[in-house]
Amino acid sequence: MLIAQNLSKHYPSAQGWIKSLDEMDLEVKAGEFLAIRGHSGSGKTTLLLTLGAMLRPSSGRVVFEGQDMYQCSSQQRAAWRAEQIGFVFQMFHLMPYLSVLDNLCLHGRAKAGSTQRADTLLDTLNLKHRVNHLPHQLSAGERQRVAMARAMMASPKLILADEPTGNLDPRHATEVCEHLRKFRDSGGTVILVTHGELASSFADRTIFLEQGRLLETVEGHAQTAP
Ligand SMILES: Nc1ncnc2c1ncn2[C@@H]1O[C@H](COP(=O)(O)OP(=O)(O)O)[C@@H](O)[C@H]1O
Ligand SMILES: [Mg+2]
Repeated sequence: MLIAQNLSKHYPSAQGWIKSLDEMDLEVKAGEFLAIRGHSGSGKTTLLLTLGAMLRPSSGRVVFEGQDMYQCSSQQRAAWRAEQIGFVFQMFHLMPYLSVLDNLCLHGRAKAGSTQRADTLLDTLNLKHRVNHLPHQLSAGERQRVAMARAMMASPKLILADEPTGNLDPRHATEVCEHLRKFRDSGGTVILVTHGELASSFADRTIFLEQGRLLETVEGHAQTAP
């Protein structure tokens, strides 16, 4: 589904070039839950942004379903992001003055069926009682579930999650991983980057990242969600 070939991203600095990604190869299959683990500064966010067609690599290719993402026009990349990918971030990034429902419908309230789709997702993510609340009235775990519902609004094929459990206690972190696992069980693909180990027990495969290079791979022992 998604292939990265010889992917590098270098940033200039006073001390020379920082190799954020260093000639990396990666292949992600449709329907896979991939966890990528690494310490802070190992290149996780850079990798996710590059895979998500948001950050042009210094060299190498990102190919999604046969399309070379950085050979496309920026409009094609924007359309691809809007239609195919959902993003989830450590800091949630919800609109603070909008209700849960309006956060979900922000980019498509006028579209037929969007309120109904939001209702269904909020039900699935155990947030039905929070529809009219503002983000600050929710717990951190609930906020992240809202962010996940928002990521799923356009029925993406792929969810890219950057440290989605980084601000959560273990119980809420587990819930978030369980919901990502359910998304994968319903046919979606997940790429999650993290410095923690929790997500690995939900993933099909874990890869370790160090100084912009992929190290060993561990096949997951994840169970299909009940
Ligand atoms: N926009 C940027 N300009 C310069 N250096 C950057 C930039 N973004 C990331 N880096 C550097 O690239 C390396 C990897 O960063 P990042 O991908 O954010 O790692 P992680 O998400 O694993 O913490 C770090 O050394 C970071 O300082
Ligand atoms: Mg990061």
